[in-house]
Amino acid sequence: MEAQADTEVVITNTNRDIIKTSSPIDSATQFILEKENFSHAEGGHILQSDWKKEKYIATVSPFNDGKGNQGYVYMLKSTDHIQAFITHLNRHFLLAIVLILLFLFITIIFLLKVLTKPLVSMKEATKKISNGDFSVTVPIKSNDEIGELSKSIQSLANDLNYLKKERNEFLASISHELRTPLTYIKGYADIGRRKTLSETERMKYLYIIHEESERVYLLLQELFDLAKMDQNMFTIQTERVNLKQFISSIYEKARLVFHNQEKELLFMCTSEPIVDIDPRRFEQVILNLLDNALKYSPEKSITLIEVQSMNNEILIKLQDEGNGIPSEDLPHIFNRLYRVDKSRSRLTGGFGLGLAIVKEIVEAHNADIIVESKVGEGTCFIIRLKEISDENRTIS
Ligand SMILES: Nc1ncnc2c1ncn2[C@@H]1O[C@H](COP(=O)(O)OP(=O)(O)OP(=O)(O)O)[C@@H](O)[C@H]1O
Ligand SMILES: [Mg+2]
Repeated sequence: MEAQADTEVVITNTNRDIIKTSSPIDSATQFILEKENFSHAEGGHILQSDWKKEKYIATVSPFNDGKGNQGYVYMLKSTDHIQAFITHLNRHFLLAIVLILLFLFITIIFLLKVLTKPLVSMKEATKKISNGDFSVTVPIKSNDEIGELSKSIQSLANDLNYLKKERNEFLASISHELRTPLTYIKGYADIGRRKTLSETERMKYLYIIHEESERVYLLLQELFDLAKMDQNMFTIQTERVNLKQFISSIYEKARLVFHNQEKELLFMCTSEPIVDIDPRRFEQVILNLLDNALKYSPEKSITLIEVQSMNNEILIKLQDEGNGIPSEDLPHIFNRLYRVDKSRSRLTGGFGLGLAIVKEIVEAHNADIIVESKVGEGTCFIIRLKEISDENRTIS
């Protein structure tokens, strides 16, 4: 039994004299056999159970074979195996801890790299942007929050870049627009000062100077208007207005101008729509659109102003039979200083500011303006305004 169970057995008589033993008695076994803190009557007893410190764990059980032989059976189990096993386990634990720590360390380094690298590149990008270099690219394409942030930074940089380009182009165009009439004014003023000049010639030059200074004044006026709109200093004072009466008074004034240039202007309005508009500003809108129809239409052409009521909305349509706007230019014509004909012809030459002002004023009225155009057939601008309902139609 003891050979199978890997256990040492010592049998003693009641005086603890050894009768039989499964292996030679060593000092640790001797020490156990000398323990006397039990008695025969008690039955089984654990003598040693501390497997960490002792060489054996040991029990003792009294026996009585019924033939008068009494004694004790000592069972001793060596703790070497357990201790070796525990040492073995400890070594494994240690190895596991070292491996886990190593794994954690590598993971932390990796995560730090993955997380901080994009942040560092974004920090560099924003630093460049704040130094005025808007041509940055933030190379992060992930779909998480960091990706979203990098996309925002990229679109901010793109917008700023676009604005910078626009501002430079705008300033270049303005200085060009100012330089041209000023060159004329200076040139004709120089010629006009000559003493030998006849009175008619002098008047002719003075007329040109007057025309050109008028042009500069107009440009500055339009730029000033736009600057006010940009700074939100531009306010509209709306009044309740009968649109039919309002447009027909503009129509009466403009009709003559069209007539003088062999062009025709018509007005059609079958209802009496009431709207809230700033009359002075809205007149500027209609006049700017009519000015374009006049400038970009040939002789004998007809321009029609039509007012329609539709689902609580008023549509003001200005349809001309002019040269039309190419489809690639259509998305840009409301931009400042944008002209389809880039050559600044002094005959048809506007500044490209009229429609930008129109759009700003229309939008300040919470309305919108769209354009439809076909080259060679004509252009139609449509303003969509909210109509005042029947019960609120009292005009102030
Ligand atoms: N009715 C139209 N027919 C054809 N082209 C047009 C018409 N209205 C506008 N355009 C084109 O759109 C451009 C922008 O118009 P916008 O009124 O802003 O500027 P402009 O008439 O050139 O100058 P400004 O109005 O400042 O005197 C014009 O230069 C012209 O090429
Ligand atoms: Mg214009």
